[in-house]
Amino acid sequence: MSIQTLTTTPFDGQKPGTSGLRKKVTVFQQPHYLENFVQALFDELHGDAPASGHTLVLGGDGRFHNRSAVQTILKMAAARGYSQVLVGQGGILSTPATSAVIRRRGASGGIILSASHNPGGPDGDFGIKYNATNGGPAPEKLTEAVFERTRSLSSYRISDAADIPLDTQGAHQMEGMGIEVIDPVADYAAVQRELFDFDAIRRLFASGFRLRYDAMWAVGGPYAKAIIEGELGAPAGTVVNAEPKEDFGGLHPDPNPVYADDLVAQLMGAGAPDMGAASDGDADRNMILGRGFIVSPSDSLAVLTAHAQRVPGYRRGLAGVARSMPTSTAVDRVARAMGVACFETPTGWKFFGNLLDAGQVTLCGEESYGTGSDHVREKDGLWAVLFWLNLVAVTGQSVEELVRGVWREHGRCMYSRHDYEGIPTERADALMAELRNRLSSLAGQTVAGQHIAWADDFSYTDPVDGSVSQRQGVRVVLEDSSRVVFRLSGTGTEGATLRVYLERHEPDATRHDLPVQQALAPLVQLAGELAGIERHTGMGSPSVMT
Ligand code: G1P
Ligand code: ZN
Repeated sequence: MSIQTLTTTPFDGQKPGTSGLRKKVTVFQQPHYLENFVQALFDELHGDAPASGHTLVLGGDGRFHNRSAVQTILKMAAARGYSQVLVGQGGILSTPATSAVIRRRGASGGIILSASHNPGGPDGDFGIKYNATNGGPAPEKLTEAVFERTRSLSSYRISDAADIPLDTQGAHQMEGMGIEVIDPVADYAAVQRELFDFDAIRRLFASGFRLRYDAMWAVGGPYAKAIIEGELGAPAGTVVNAEPKEDFGGLHPDPNPVYADDLVAQLMGAGAPDMGAASDGDADRNMILGRGFIVSPSDSLAVLTAHAQRVPGYRRGLAGVARSMPTSTAVDRVARAMGVACFETPTGWKFFGNLLDAGQVTLCGEESYGTGSDHVREKDGLWAVLFWLNLVAVTGQSVEELVRGVWREHGRCMYSRHDYEGIPTERADALMAELRNRLSSLAGQTVAGQHIAWADDFSYTDPVDGSVSQRQGVRVVLEDSSRVVFRLSGTGTEGATLRVYLERHEPDATRHDLPVQQALAPLVQLAGELAGIERHTGMGSPSVMT
């Protein structure tokens, strides 16, 4: 066994997005590509010093290339002098579980191998990101510095040791570094046990309550099986598509009504179970359904906020709540009524991190099927499902009744997101540039019959560290507080995706059952006209509506 120094040429374009570095598998398979990034990361983290005394957590969502990347990173960590690596059995750790392991084991940080909800397999996507000591995504300063370094790196160091057997738990040594292959579920389950009333949920299942949890052939499966079927006593078969597959069964592991259409059909059909749930590729996203009822993620956050004190982990109340800017204002309305502070942050989980670390918020969420709390520093799919189960168990209300209760009290935020995918980048940029140019003249104008009260490009000043993030999305707000938000996706790997977020508040309960798209039609028209969507993209309608 020895440590080798291999020559590498600088890699251009290893620019991480908001959720780490995401590229096609074929890009990651290029010689030295992953190594280049990992070396740059280690150099930024440790300078010239060896990483002795440091523990690294390592795992991924099990997608194609996960196993080989784990072996490469182990050998590079050994060459770098790490004291210890904790790696999930089978190379597996969900994103929230990685966060939990970092925090519980006092590790210096962790590497997560995932492209989240993007498709996997040899032709799919792969990704890598670093989470810091607090268990949350690395600050932008670090990712920028790593990026700069990947452009000048000339060599990297790696052990020539043999691969480590990942499929059984146990301890190994490599170049003096300890490697522990750990149970990927144990630490995570311990965190959930401290938050939720497992006895109440056990009684709920024992009384015949039926849940269908679709793990979408992704990494949530082992977690949901161990906790929901194993510990909470739900009948075998409650968790379906539970075995993580390298290509997610050829499907798109994104828990929304479009990609989890089979689950939706089950919940809408005859003999539907009481509740449905799904999680994404790396198990940080969630979708919640009731029998014959789809819960929007924005409403989910509002319901969890309204009832948080019924759950042991939040019994003492909420320090505050936060939502990303495009997420509906349902949670704002609930928080205001409760006298709880509510923060509006740019899209992306990392903006919640500072607020959580500073103890300013307890719950947070995004419209993109992400919900979480201060228990870890990532969104957490299964956590949301357990929260809902706990609420159903202790209130005796169904999923639908819980949502309708919030609508009754605070009105319903009719809400939808329209995505226009695969737009040539320069056309999407032109659309946004044109829209931004018009921003200052929009206030007071009537477009498509709608009276615009104000419009801006969302800018966020972090209340904790004062850092400013500009140009986070164009908001157009009408006199009746309806709004349309435009932004480009920061996570795609093919062309650009325009996201249009539509929201209208409906106080009148007799109108809460109007079909959402119908209720939002005037806003859709406004959005199309304002941004010239068809003129710029050639697309007459969105490719995905959630
Ligand atoms: C998308 C979601 C965003 C989420 C991110 C990572 O980013 O919209 O809410 O934080 O994925 O899961 P986007 O592609 O819109 O930049
Ligand atoms: Zn994810």
